[in-house]
Amino acid sequence: MLKKKPSSKIKILGIETSCDETGIAILEVEKGKFKIKENLVASQAKLHAKYGGVYPNLAKREHQKNLPKLFSLIEKSLLKSPPDLIGVTVGPGLDPCLWQGIEFAKKIAKEFNSPLVCADHLIGHLLANFLDFSIEKAKKFHPALGLLVSGGHTQLVLMEKFLKFKVLGETRDDAAGECFDKCARILGLSYPGGPEIEKLAKKFPEISSKIPKNLKNLKLPRPMINQKNYDFSFAGLKTAVLYDFMKRPKKERESEIYKILMAKEIQSAVFDVLIEKTKRAQKEFKIKKLFFGGGVLANETLRKRIKKEFKKCQVLIPKKEFCLDNGLLPATFAFFYSYQKTTDLEKIKSSPNLSF
Ligand code: KG4
Ligand code: ZN
Repeated sequence: MLKKKPSSKIKILGIETSCDETGIAILEVEKGKFKIKENLVASQAKLHAKYGGVYPNLAKREHQKNLPKLFSLIEKSLLKSPPDLIGVTVGPGLDPCLWQGIEFAKKIAKEFNSPLVCADHLIGHLLANFLDFSIEKAKKFHPALGLLVSGGHTQLVLMEKFLKFKVLGETRDDAAGECFDKCARILGLSYPGGPEIEKLAKKFPEISSKIPKNLKNLKLPRPMINQKNYDFSFAGLKTAVLYDFMKRPKKERESEIYKILMAKEIQSAVFDVLIEKTKRAQKEFKIKKLFFGGGVLANETLRKRIKKEFKKCQVLIPKKEFCLDNGLLPATFAFFYSYQKTTDLEKIKSSPNLSF
């Protein structure tokens, strides 16, 4: 539990190791506003690219290596004034990776005698929206609808009261980010697939007048778009991409035009479903406040579409760099949940399947 009054200056250390980014951040709260002091991220994406996805034991070793490296860059600042709070991501995520962050955070918490808050990665993604808000304003942001779209999760949540979440629906199989990563692999693109697919899709205007006849009707399904629930399913989309890819002659499926058209269609299919389900929930629950989060929200096409589709609502999307995993997510979480009693350090453990 926070020892200082929430109205005084507070220094928070955030530690993130749930997947393939090692993140350490220092967030300060003063006069009711957040100030980002440090946001260090060591990405392992290039390392995992050859496996086409995250290889957990390799990721664990990288976190082990990167945590002290990043920490050494901010240690001076902590020695000058120790953290009032430490937030560490305990889940959801890859278990061996989570443990690296947890053990590291425990050591620092002991060293500085600072309370440690167990941060939920999913809630952290949504709370990142409040980094450039005043805290008072943030606490009034309800009732709200939240859409979380990352590599491991796709969830639509209702936040009736501030920080009181209820899951309306989620993916029954692959997450949207995972779908991008798997489709990218089929197309021979590197990991992570989302940014690669976005890059290709952006080239569409260059080829729009040159589309050959046999590629004119390239169309993918919009899974579950008409079902009156808030669940998602993206595994079938990946299979549809695979079938289309396999049925075409090698020369055709390896052509730049095919890849551009496919990338654009994959994006449209995923985003159509995300937007349609969110729209339906927004209407059903008559909600005027919406907030989004997770790595897929770094996608410019999705950001633009959301802003266009929900013009009459108050829409929050974190800055692009804050959509991806970083230490500010557990730090922001730690601040908003700082009233929680600190658990005995020795009892803190990972929660790889943690949900809202
Ligand atoms: O939130 P995040 O950094 O990690 C998890 O918590 O999973 O999300 C990573 C996911 C990956 O699947 C990646 O392909 C996707 O976000 N992603 C994107 C973009 N940037 C990252 N998807 C679409 N467009 C992007 N620009
Ligand atoms: Zn994430």
